[in-house]
Amino acid sequence: MQSEQVGGEPSDMAQDESPEPLVLPRLETRKLILREFRDSDLELIREASGDPLIPLITSVPADYTEAEGLAFIKRQQGRLTSREGYAFVIANRADDRAIGAIGVWIRNIDLGRAAVGYWLGSSARGQGTAAAALSAVSDWALENLEVVRLELFVEEWNIASWRTAEKAGFSREGLLRRWELIGGVWKDLYVYSKVREFPK
Ligand SMILES: CC(C)(COP(=O)(O)OP(=O)(O)OC[C@H]1O[C@@H](n2cnc3c(N)ncnc32)[C@H](O)[C@@H]1OP(=O)(O)O)[C@@H](O)C(=O)NCCC(=O)NCCS
Repeated sequence: MQSEQVGGEPSDMAQDESPEPLVLPRLETRKLILREFRDSDLELIREASGDPLIPLITSVPADYTEAEGLAFIKRQQGRLTSREGYAFVIANRADDRAIGAIGVWIRNIDLGRAAVGYWLGSSARGQGTAAAALSAVSDWALENLEVVRLELFVEEWNIASWRTAEKAGFSREGLLRRWELIGGVWKDLYVYSKVREFPK
């Protein structure tokens, strides 16, 4: 079973054939660009496929081939037409090289909620990059989508991820017991949220 919560990426089954595609914005931070996936981002998918966690929580193929990598990219591009959500590549602003991914998934948008998931290639870690990307994407989502609550789910051991969430303004709300099957094991996950501040 493919995870929908920790990595945040929805399964292919959830696709809704709407004629009106979503539009992915281009976001920028001091060092990053957040943009659409392109076929030229293939090297990132190859790198991510070797990670012990990413293929378990996303549809990144564990056994990389160029065809599987391109299929992954096509799926991300298709999230707009299926209206499942916004799949961004995290790229270096200096050279536009893809170094990670972050998605905002809107399956529950009718309830005012969206979920966020993110990952970096191993060579891009350890510099606070995911927190910068998460801040930019969550601020954009709370300002521009019909959502009042963004949520994300993190395994207890994944300190880098929950520190990322906290640095980006998310607060831990509790531990959801046996929340999701990851790699064949039912995992307890911390739930984090960031909510829209209403005007006084
Ligand atoms: C989670 C992930 C995106 C974080 O990427 P990153 O931006 O490189 O994060 P960093 O390594 O800069 O770590 C973020 C913070 O956690 C801290 N941290 C990381 N590992 C830690 C550890 N084992 N113990 C204590 N603190 C730790 C870092 O010091 C940093 O804090 P600081 O900025 O206050 O110094 C990245 O590790 C990743 O892609 N992991 C695999 C996929 C994944 O787990 N996705 C999230 C699923 S919920």
